Amino acid sequence: MIRFNAVSKSYPNGTTAVDDLSLELAEGGITVLVGPSGCGKTTTLRMINRMVEPTSGTVSLRGRDIREVHAPELRRGIGYVIQHAGLFPHRTILDNIATVPLLLGWSRKKARARAAELLELVGLPEEMAKRYPNQLSGGQQQRVGVARALGADPPVLLMDEPFSAVDPIVRAELQAEFIRLQKELHKTIVFVTHDIDEAIKLGDNIAVFRTGGKLAQFDTPEQLLAHPADDFVAGFVGQDRGIRRLSFVKAGEVPLRDGPVLTATTPVAQARAAAEAWLLVVDDGRRPLGWAPAAELPASGTLADASLVPLGHTFSLVGDSARAALDSALLSPARLAVGVDADGAVVGVADAQELSAVAAAEVGEPAANAEKADGDDR
Ligand SMILES: Nc1ncnc2c1ncn2[C@@H]1O[C@H](COP(=O)(O)OP(=O)(O)O)[C@@H](O)[C@H]1O
Ligand SMILES: [Mg+2]
Repeated sequence: MIRFNAVSKSYPNGTTAVDDLSLELAEGGITVLVGPSGCGKTTTLRMINRMVEPTSGTVSLRGRDIREVHAPELRRGIGYVIQHAGLFPHRTILDNIATVPLLLGWSRKKARARAAELLELVGLPEEMAKRYPNQLSGGQQQRVGVARALGADPPVLLMDEPFSAVDPIVRAELQAEFIRLQKELHKTIVFVTHDIDEAIKLGDNIAVFRTGGKLAQFDTPEQLLAHPADDFVAGFVGQDRGIRRLSFVKAGEVPLRDGPVLTATTPVAQARAAAEAWLLVVDDGRRPLGWAPAAELPASGTLADASLVPLGHTFSLVGDSARAALDSALLSPARLAVGVDADGAVVGVADAQELSAVAAAEVGEPAANAEKADGDDR
């Protein structure tokens, strides 16, 4: 629905920001433009709403060359969100969100009612309406920026590094919220980021750019990780793409062992014979109770007498990905991921090494150091 046909952009100083770009972006999906700084992402994005005009080639929206559309009319159908939210500091949050409806000539009452709706939609409490931007956190301001861009319910949303300026935890929240919002709204979204993990999390399709404004690869996240087009893309998606690919492997495919899984009625002597460093103690219904470190077992009795370390996170064999299993292993005191079925009963456990072997098999690479890779990801 948004189509770049042999588009180039050179600036008067001779910089080629975008070089012969041909690309078709699907309606109702999230397309992520990703690549190192200065590779032409922002320029590409701004050519969609005519903030930047191409030097050559054409950009069309729903089959119509956008040069034929009066720029203000074009922009009415295209929301735009930028890094620091770009809020008006002297307007209240509600009036910031109402900006576009007011520009469209809506009555003040109708515009404010719409703004209140949007405030709720992006997950902000009502009492924020009367505040000013500097009274909000960075993450809250970013939500207001998204709400404002949605003001006139535009079918297309352009987002330029909208979550880059907030800390990693808030960023993860905003990303999750954004995925939820898009499930409701089905906008056609073009999302710029320099962060490949963000691209893989959010994109239905990903366009990887290299320096010089050249498109290196346009693919689904899964294809990008499995089959990078060249060394540049392979390097950019990282050596640990096996780990990233775990997001696309169903947790049900992870091989599990049940040697360390024992019921609370198991005699200590028998538990010792299992020769495991950590024992996962379960009840009669195989529901997990906690971890017993083998080195600290009581001299006699059953596992019910052992002192247990809390479980940490389990992963679901029915709903989760293998990536969730890896997180579960890394967060577990025993460094073992605990896989449970739909009823929460333990099926078995796997360690990070076993999980990273699954990842490596996926891409035909030697097993990466899962713990290190996970640390790098955060
Ligand atoms: N107005 C401008 N005048 C001259 N060069 C520019 C201008 N805007 C961007 N550039 C250059 O074009 C290239 C691409 O920039 P940009 O699209 O902002 O990249 P990105 O968003 O990927 O970081 C960079 O080399 C940048 O310095
Ligand atoms: Mg940029």
